[in-house]
Amino acid sequence: MPSPLQLDESGVLYQCIENSNDAVMLTDVRGNIFYVNKAWIRLFGFAKEEALGKTPRILRSKYQEEDFYKNMWTEILDPQKGFWKGELINRSKDGKEIPMLLTIAPFKDPRGALAGYMGIAIDLTEKKLRELELMRKDRLATIGVLAAGLAHETGTPLGTVRGRAELVLGSLDADSPIREDLKTIIAQVDRLAEITRSLLALAIKSNYDTSGTTFVKEVLDNVYNMIRDKLETRKIAMKMQVSEDTKVTAPSDYLGQVVLNLLTNSLHAIETAIAKGRTDGHTIDVSRKDRETHWEVSVQDTGCGITDKQMHDLFRPFFTTKEVGEGKGLGLAIAHQMIHSWGGSIHVESKVGQGTTVTIVLPKAK
Ligand SMILES: Nc1ncnc2c1ncn2[C@@H]1O[C@H](COP(=O)(O)OP(=O)(O)OP(=O)(O)O)[C@@H](O)[C@H]1O
Ligand SMILES: [Mg+2]
Repeated sequence: MPSPLQLDESGVLYQCIENSNDAVMLTDVRGNIFYVNKAWIRLFGFAKEEALGKTPRILRSKYQEEDFYKNMWTEILDPQKGFWKGELINRSKDGKEIPMLLTIAPFKDPRGALAGYMGIAIDLTEKKLRELELMRKDRLATIGVLAAGLAHETGTPLGTVRGRAELVLGSLDADSPIREDLKTIIAQVDRLAEITRSLLALAIKSNYDTSGTTFVKEVLDNVYNMIRDKLETRKIAMKMQVSEDTKVTAPSDYLGQVVLNLLTNSLHAIETAIAKGRTDGHTIDVSRKDRETHWEVSVQDTGCGITDKQMHDLFRPFFTTKEVGEGKGLGLAIAHQMIHSWGGSIHVESKVGQGTTVTIVLPKAK
């Protein structure tokens, strides 16, 4: 039913609101939308005709519970307060989640009776991303101090343990039963040293070489050779659609480290899916897209997938779902850090029980 409320489209106020940079929506008393401005349409992706007559429920995301809206309306309807202002996450037409600062206030008709509600939304996406990035940097700075201290304090004792173990190993007969034990000690000491090195690398950005150009196909071929056996035993078909000319500005050894981590993660996710009973038809597809100034390389697997909750922690140092000894939870944190220092970005999409696509975007090299 069309709203009885009339908009005076010739008025100055109408023009101001229509062209405002913040998204404005008007509803009648029953909550039916009868006006949205241009910024609203840009932000939420609905056409005007799709929005008019609907209620703001079309924007709801899974992040707010019913209680949240109840409290919101208590405040709006409270004559003492008479408005609501707060942050929430809404959804655009294509499902994108948009953090926003929203103000809702009632308005009256010329006779002074309640006529409807006005919502003004300010998009906080950029602000939230900046805050996240700051938090991440803060955390890394803390880790840097910790890692430097750790490297310093553990370096000498670890070196001593390793040295003594090697000495004893060298003095043993070839068939001594404790040779294997000593080798395990040496390997584990090396692992500890490797963890400390990774931590330092993560925290000290200048450790990363940001120069160099690399043919992605060459890196992929090398990494593929490293994991080929594992792929074959688990009957995983790997498809690589990355042509020889895909050249990016990133140093090849570090890019190799990033790609090895992505493929190892996919392999592990598929192993998890197999363990859960999804045994057949697993694939890892690596493909490339041309994005004018950048190459986009995606690794798509049919593994166990990532839950929404895990998705938030993915790039956090030490976040891992792997068994102790299997993963350090540093692979993606380091990848994120490196790729950004090369002027690129990394994105993850996933569906639990279906699979994951990790996309890295890197500047093209001449
Ligand atoms: N393709 C994927 N499918 C499912 N889960 C994934 C995938 N890639 C990453 N993850 C999840 O993200 C977590 C973090 O990955 P990340 O590479 O940072 O660390 P890790 O693999 O656990 O350890 P590390 O790489 O340091 O050996 C993994 O433990 C896993 O839970
Ligand atoms: Mg990993």
